[in-house]
Amino acid sequence: MQFEVFTLLPEVFPSYLETSIIKRARERDLINVRVHNIRDYTHDKHHTTDDTPYGGGGGMVMKPDPVFEAIETILELNTEPTPPRSDSKIPIILLTPQGRVFNQSIAQELSQHPRIFLICGRYEGIDERIREHLVTDEISIGDYVLTGGELPALILIDAIARLLPDVLGDPTGAQDDSHATGLLEYPHYTRPPEFRGWKTPDILLTGDHAKIDKWRREQSLLRTFNKRPDMLEKAELTKKDLKFIEGIKAEVESQKSKAE
Ligand code: ADE
Repeated sequence: MQFEVFTLLPEVFPSYLETSIIKRARERDLINVRVHNIRDYTHDKHHTTDDTPYGGGGGMVMKPDPVFEAIETILELNTEPTPPRSDSKIPIILLTPQGRVFNQSIAQELSQHPRIFLICGRYEGIDERIREHLVTDEISIGDYVLTGGELPALILIDAIARLLPDVLGDPTGAQDDSHATGLLEYPHYTRPPEFRGWKTPDILLTGDHAKIDKWRREQSLLRTFNKRPDMLEKAELTKKDLKFIEGIKAEVESQKSKAE
């Protein structure tokens, strides 16, 4: 999988990309991340990448010409010359708080592409013609505003990379993730069995895998019910799951009536 990142702050990327799982994925050629400096695609003496907004008002706006030139140059380097627009299959994604909100299913969707372009916005905004005539998708990492799209781009790379074959040491590693199953993940414990008087649940020490699987499923349901009940509405639930949830609801009701 090839990530092409376009930014005015290329120095932000190496430390994260040279660490841990992402570093190993790059070394094993499972992913390749190229970071392109948009400033390298300017032609004036001062390498100008921003300008004042037409119509007045505060702040600066990212100029369209260096961004178009950067994307078009990199597109043409590796592929037959396809116009950079929605008819091109390569996603050209603008990171912006105005985009669709990133989640696990968007990560899954993007992990199917062999190549992805990520444009990191800076300044107060970007010239609208970049949005209208260059990008094919806009993604936000949440309803808050950052100073730029660099951290969001790293978040996308991380979430997508770990879904690719062989990136995680454990081949089933991504299957049970919170969100991958539509539920939050069950609690984990490791040695020691008792820490400061807090015990590991007995069932995890029994070696009875059928019982452990049942306990984990129920814990996932319970956690999701308590922390993210909205997720239960979309999750794929079995009859057994629904019965378990009915049990939790009945328990909650009886606690409430006892308190009154
Ligand atoms: N740029 C600034 N804020 C952002 C956000 N929340 N998501 C993606 N890109 C951004």
